[in-house]
Amino acid sequence: MTDCQQAKIEQLTQENAHLQMQLEQSQKMAALGELVSTTTHEFNNVLMTIINYARMGMRHDDKPTRDKAFNKINQAGERAARITKSVLGMARNRSESFEATDLAKLIDGSMVLLEREMQKYRIGVEMELEEVPQVSAMGNQIQQVILNLLINARQAMPDGGRLVIRLKPGEAGQFVDLSVRDYGTGMAEETLHRIFEPYYSTKSGPDESGKGGTGLGLATCKKIIEAHGGKIRVDSSLGKGTCFTLRFPAIRSAPAAPNIANATTQSASMNVSAE
Ligand SMILES: Nc1ncnc2c1ncn2[C@@H]1O[C@H](COP(=O)(O)OP(=O)(O)O)[C@@H](O)[C@H]1O
Ligand SMILES: [Mg+2]
Repeated sequence: MTDCQQAKIEQLTQENAHLQMQLEQSQKMAALGELVSTTTHEFNNVLMTIINYARMGMRHDDKPTRDKAFNKINQAGERAARITKSVLGMARNRSESFEATDLAKLIDGSMVLLEREMQKYRIGVEMELEEVPQVSAMGNQIQQVILNLLINARQAMPDGGRLVIRLKPGEAGQFVDLSVRDYGTGMAEETLHRIFEPYYSTKSGPDESGKGGTGLGLATCKKIIEAHGGKIRVDSSLGKGTCFTLRFPAIRSAPAAPNIANATTQSASMNVSAE
């Protein structure tokens, strides 16, 4: 190889590394943007409820009306607290460390953030959550994946529809499957082949809820799931709907683990492996 070729290769390698970094940065920004948009919309909805019921309570001084108003304000306040808890939960685990994670909790945290959005678009969410082992995961990243899949599913059903979230243990407790199924537009073969490509999108831009159109959602999901030693699979049928399945290696219980003073029962018997 000539010096000139060698220099060219080095230059291309550097450019490639630079582009990879830019892609990672864009993926983070897109995820953050969607999270901010989701949280703001949900919070705004809570505030509207509080303002409206406070006004109602001020207009009417009979006890039943005021009781009802206080009750609604209280419920809205509790919902606001659940929303902040979920976002703080995502922000907390910034470290790149794997922890024993309960997927049902992450599903719950994701649904808290999308409750109003699903109602607004008339999406009926069904949960079929079986008991499953914990998985070794970076919770905030997996919640990001779940949010991406739920938002894509919602966007595939512009006229409303059913969305089913399932959690199912694999044979012999070796893995856990988490699936998000929608009964929306589905995808044609050409689309299906390209969905994990960064920047591939069939959407014209963000929708009125500020989501989608970057083509970065599924590329990010794939990268995260693979870093967890897991797999992401998609089944889709045009006009019928789509099902994304995430398969995680489960944390398997080892026989009794004596003398671990400060471990909880669960983490004491954990055989943490990210494979
Ligand atoms: N549940 C789904 N139903 C139909 N099409 C989907 C679904 N999820 C993803 N897609 C397709 O995959 C493409 C890429 O998705 P994604 O990476 O999340 O980017 P974006 O949502 O910004 O378009 C979408 O533009 C859409 O064409
Ligand atoms: Mg998307």
